[in-house]
Amino acid sequence: MRKPLMAGNWKMNKTVSEAVSVVKALKGAVTGVLDVEILVCPAFTALYEVNNEIKGSNINLGAQNLFWEAKGAFTGEISTAMIRDAGCSYVIVGHSERRQYFGETDETVNKKTKAALAADITPIVCVGETLKEREDNATFSVIEKQVRNGLADITLQQASLTVIAYEPVWAIGTGKTATPDQAQEVHSFIRKIYAQMYKESAEKVRILYGGSVNPGNVSDLMKKSDIDGGLVGGASLEAESFTKLVKYSK
Ligand code: 13P
Repeated sequence: MRKPLMAGNWKMNKTVSEAVSVVKALKGAVTGVLDVEILVCPAFTALYEVNNEIKGSNINLGAQNLFWEAKGAFTGEISTAMIRDAGCSYVIVGHSERRQYFGETDETVNKKTKAALAADITPIVCVGETLKEREDNATFSVIEKQVRNGLADITLQQASLTVIAYEPVWAIGTGKTATPDQAQEVHSFIRKIYAQMYKESAEKVRILYGGSVNPGNVSDLMKKSDIDGGLVGGASLEAESFTKLVKYSK
């Protein structure tokens, strides 16, 4: 049985005090929730203080990016040791915004994925097609390439622990969610590719859906057999709406 994971990607939002205040409210509202794993991914600057606030709670902490080298002359970058030190057990890798604006490729995604796994940090590896690719009927070939190249050369055990997020680019921040059937179709395809790569790990890997998830559509998405959780932007920014996502009706 795969435990659902509801992850909030706060992107470039919230100062330290704003982040702490949201997580404080969230902590109170989700006390006792054990059947869904809860994760918040604030900006780097807020990680340390948010970690202090969630210590001993059922909320986990993740970073939004990392660099694969251990240390040295890489101005502006953050290592696995640094995000671990700040309390992170997860890291988002290869978000489409990073692919689009910051030149991430399947190759850098793969390096980051391996660096995270080597440091015992769970990578959430993002894949997803653009609107043009979907309209050109290239969705499956794009996803297959991203999964095969981004997740290449990890061990079977690492493959089971990794999390994949399917985030169609056209659904991010647009209010245009993939229908549960559209999402399920791609999720089951990802699991099939993963089975070819990593055998029985495919039954263990959690595949999250991301792209305009909100309290109104989360339950129908979560009913699908290959959707194991959400990677949520906008609706995770306030404690009230994120709590509704965590407590979606089953
Ligand atoms: P929205 O939920 O705001 O569409 O963002 C999705 C996303 O990119 C999460 O990583």
